[in-house]
Amino acid sequence: EKGGYDYFMLKEIAEQPKAVADTLLGRIDLAGNLCLDEVRIPASVLREVSKVVIVACGTAYHAGMIAKYAIEHWTRIPCETELASEFRYRDPILDQRTLVIAISQSGETMDTLMALRHAREQGAKVLAICNTNGSTIPRESDAVLYTHAGPEVAVASTKAFLTQLVACYLVALYLGQVRGTKWGDEILSVIRELSEIATQVEEVLETMEPVRELARTLAGKNTVLFLGRHVGYPVALEGALKLKELAYMHAEGFAAGELKHGPIALIEQDVPVVVVVPSPRGRSVLHDKIVSNIQEIRARGARTIVIAERGDETVAPYADHLIEIPATPTLLQPLVATVPLQVFACELATARGNEVDQPRNLAKSVTVE
Ligand code: F6R
Repeated sequence: EKGGYDYFMLKEIAEQPKAVADTLLGRIDLAGNLCLDEVRIPASVLREVSKVVIVACGTAYHAGMIAKYAIEHWTRIPCETELASEFRYRDPILDQRTLVIAISQSGETMDTLMALRHAREQGAKVLAICNTNGSTIPRESDAVLYTHAGPEVAVASTKAFLTQLVACYLVALYLGQVRGTKWGDEILSVIRELSEIATQVEEVLETMEPVRELARTLAGKNTVLFLGRHVGYPVALEGALKLKELAYMHAEGFAAGELKHGPIALIEQDVPVVVVVPSPRGRSVLHDKIVSNIQEIRARGARTIVIAERGDETVAPYADHLIEIPATPTLLQPLVATVPLQVFACELATARGNEVDQPRNLAKSVTVE
């Protein structure tokens, strides 16, 4: 049942290209436009949306954080992403023109379910992004977009996360498409690039041996830090979460720009710091800023593990370990940048003798608040 792999997690990491492709299947027409009629929220309703609020927990919340960048960029609709467990307790401002997106692999997470119930009571429309057919969250939502990751057995979420991202991009691009924004051309080209992404995830998977080797050498460490900016920031949080869950290590993700406001005090000789570098094309200001962050931490003795676009020569001199990923548009980069972090956490956990499919104290679906 593990298809020749030692753990479900390894199998599920390997299944990601297919999961991504399956989640796109049938949702892009021959002309390169999105067809999401299955969502069954009329375009007239989507055109009236004045605010998007995303609620989710854990890894799904990280997908939601990335979605915020995509939705605001492509649609210019204000979007906030909130931890489902915090949402209803702060009396959030919602009305009929608010679109709430609830993201959940299992469809049974109680915190997310309570958040969506609260949103519907206030008159908001709720769209679920979910991996489990007929589960409670889609049943209680106004609409659903299923991720087609297939069953995810390992407790730590991997392929579900990538497909949640794909679904979020589809929703963001679709909102942009039905509302018509100045980004029309960009939307079409991103839809094309999204169709290539499964192949790029495959390429990443083929180059993971050095990442596994590196992970094994770090098994005795106490702390690993993760830095990113823009969509690389949630990727850093996700890398840290995977390491906590699986390797039981102290791992923290930071927005790289926050470093100087405190976390840089944590940098000492030989502490491993994973840095997610945005593409040098496109938002190059971001790229240059993160390169100086890498220099700063390296000057203080950090061991830098740098995830950067292939051919990005500016970062190589400051990387103790360089992990190259294929070139993608900035907003899509999390689909390729997260994969090495999953492999890293899985291998490190195994090297520490941990049971990766069933980490201690965790359950696959959390049905209590
Ligand atoms: C992390 C992980 C959890 C879940 C979270 C939400 O690897 O698995 O953080 O992502 O409990 O679960 P779902 O998506 O089922 O609502």
